[in-house]
Amino acid sequence: MLLPGDGVGPEVTRAARRVLEAVGGEKTPGFEFGEYSIGGAAIDATGVPLPDETLEACKSADAVFLGAVGGPTWDSQPPDFRPESGLLKLRKELDVFCNLRPVVVDESMSSASPLKPERVSGTDFLIVRELTGGLYFGKPRSLGASEAVNTMRYNTKEIRRIARIGFESARSRRSHVTSVDKANVLEVSVLWRNEVTTMQRDEFPDVELVHMYVDNAAMQIVLNPGQFDVILTSNLFGDILSDLGATLPGSVGVLPSASIGGTVGIFEPVHGSAPDIAGTDTVNPTAAILSAAMLLDSLGETKKAARIRDAVTETLHANIRTADFVVPGVQPVGTTFFTDSVISNLKQTELTGPESTVLR
Ligand code: NAD
Ligand code: IPM
Ligand code: MN
Repeated sequence: MLLPGDGVGPEVTRAARRVLEAVGGEKTPGFEFGEYSIGGAAIDATGVPLPDETLEACKSADAVFLGAVGGPTWDSQPPDFRPESGLLKLRKELDVFCNLRPVVVDESMSSASPLKPERVSGTDFLIVRELTGGLYFGKPRSLGASEAVNTMRYNTKEIRRIARIGFESARSRRSHVTSVDKANVLEVSVLWRNEVTTMQRDEFPDVELVHMYVDNAAMQIVLNPGQFDVILTSNLFGDILSDLGATLPGSVGVLPSASIGGTVGIFEPVHGSAPDIAGTDTVNPTAAILSAAMLLDSLGETKKAARIRDAVTETLHANIRTADFVVPGVQPVGTTFFTDSVISNLKQTELTGPESTVLR
């Protein structure tokens, strides 16, 4: 199911679709795509950011690919009628409580980094972000003329189910979890820290656990990203730290994500609708294409996912890069050209792609 959304959403969704169609290949069955509206596009068409028709179609899909939602046109809408609330409702309805956001800066990704190569090289961490609770969903919430309220709330069940995924992910990686909270100030974080500590002690003694305050974690991600394997954190902190993680490769346009744990997964770039560049064929479709690879992994199509990743790597190695990710002396290419290049590299690597790790 494709939900293109707003701004650059339709452009990156088109790129991901073209790559999925190309990787479908002749020998294996292709994919069937349905396309539905969400966000501002849905508000304009139907008056609401998540029409029932879209929600029902997503519930019966194998997987959902989402471009991005939001933009200045809808910023003055009341909170429940903003494009973003459509995405939040979709996540809640599909119960995708876990958002996986890999930040990998391999050789093909490091040359556009604003940081020194020795600092970013070897960065390979996975943010495991809680996605259907915390400050985003806690009640009471309200917006009055002179006061507004949001509530940060987690119960032990919510903490334990996301922590379990964090520890299990670490087991298939380098067995190290950094749990990020603000337990020096917030009661919610004290409960979070206690539950995570207990789970590690009782069920994952083989996984190393470090607790870190979120303010320090923000600094450490830039100073010493190599220390992180799995970053386990709450909804709001994970949102902020993942955009910070984008500074390591040098663009949010290359970071994919998978929202899982419920009945149907949502696969979405970390970036937003980038209204400043929408409609100019300049948006970097890498995040969307790599999100499509995560989608294939979730369906067990790991070879096809690996072929996509290889093709992206090859394209970047050839210094075919969009403007946000360009290196000195290289002329940027547009979204369509970049996607064409990934597709042509797909064909060349068809028979050689290695198995990929599921949902890295
Ligand atoms: P943004 O991620 O849309 O853009 C931030 C900056 O990064 C902009 O300069 C933009 O041009 C650039 N950028 C983002 N993606 C890029 C890409 N693929 N290639 C090249 N450059 C890219 O964040 P924002 O400006 O804070 O938010 C814009 C709108 O998007 C808001 O309405 C926000 O709510 C929404 N948003 C949606 C999602 C989502 O749908 N998942 C995520 C984040 C933000
Ligand atoms: C993201 C976005 C969303 C979030 C918004 C658009 C609701 O920023 O997916 O990172 O905060 O989760
Ligand atoms: Mn975000």
